[in-house]
Amino acid sequence: MIKKCLFPAAGYGTRFLPATKAMPKEMLPILTKPLIQYGVEEAMEAGCDVMAVITGRGKRAITDHFDISYELEHQIKGSAKEELLGDIRNIMDKCTFTYTRQNEMRGLGDAIYKGNVLVGFQNPFAVILADDLCVNPDGDGILKQMVDLYHKYKCCVVATMEVPNEEVHKYGVIEGKEIEEGVYMVSNMVEKPDNDKAPSNLAVIGRYILTPDIFDMIKNTKPGKNGELQITDALCEQAKKGMVIAYKFKGKRFDCGSVDGFVEATNYFYDQEKNKNKK
Ligand code: G1P
Repeated sequence: MIKKCLFPAAGYGTRFLPATKAMPKEMLPILTKPLIQYGVEEAMEAGCDVMAVITGRGKRAITDHFDISYELEHQIKGSAKEELLGDIRNIMDKCTFTYTRQNEMRGLGDAIYKGNVLVGFQNPFAVILADDLCVNPDGDGILKQMVDLYHKYKCCVVATMEVPNEEVHKYGVIEGKEIEEGVYMVSNMVEKPDNDKAPSNLAVIGRYILTPDIFDMIKNTKPGKNGELQITDALCEQAKKGMVIAYKFKGKRFDCGSVDGFVEATNYFYDQEKNKNKK
């Protein structure tokens, strides 16, 4: 039932300048694969086959990446290099890509709101922030785990993880009651609180399952932290009126929006790759 995944990808990626001056941050590669492709593969594993991307000016490389490059295909036809395009061809065979632009940077809530033309108002949908790169070497991917949880609770689900107290100011933070192991009924959510005012150290990371009534919630939300429309504030309203679940996922998350996290992810995937080749 959750077939569509939204990828907000309009941000400037200023932390990676000058690399992101003319290139979308979502196209930065971990080894040979761009960040957004990892996200698309995670969404496919979770059962999605429509990838809805919120882009902006200067993001054409994303659209081109998920399309055929005739010249390139022609050039490498029959060579060993063809194999390197296997994964991306598989994605293009199985998925449909849709795009719309966020013209002004008005926050994640606004970006998701813009996605309503792509995901519609009938069904729940997933959201992946591609610079949060998530893996679970021991089982189901993070989004798949969340889809399973959605089927149990039938409400919005956010991914969460414990972070050190001095880092909570970088995240949306939840307050809630644990109703089963690693599953919290959210009672409050705060976007990037001061470290000493955070309601907990459970940070939201970039994976969400949202029910379409979130669009009304966003419409009624006022700009919050940094003058931007925050999805955290809309979800907080949703939690107060109905139900929102926060899920402490199984797996690892790399903050590829920061240089440190990006390098950490690169090293992790490089080691994985080397070990695979040894076997
Ligand atoms: C966004 C969200 C925040 C969340 C974070 C996860 O913030 O607004 O609630 O914790 O993603 O990465 P951003 O990192 O885009 O500033």
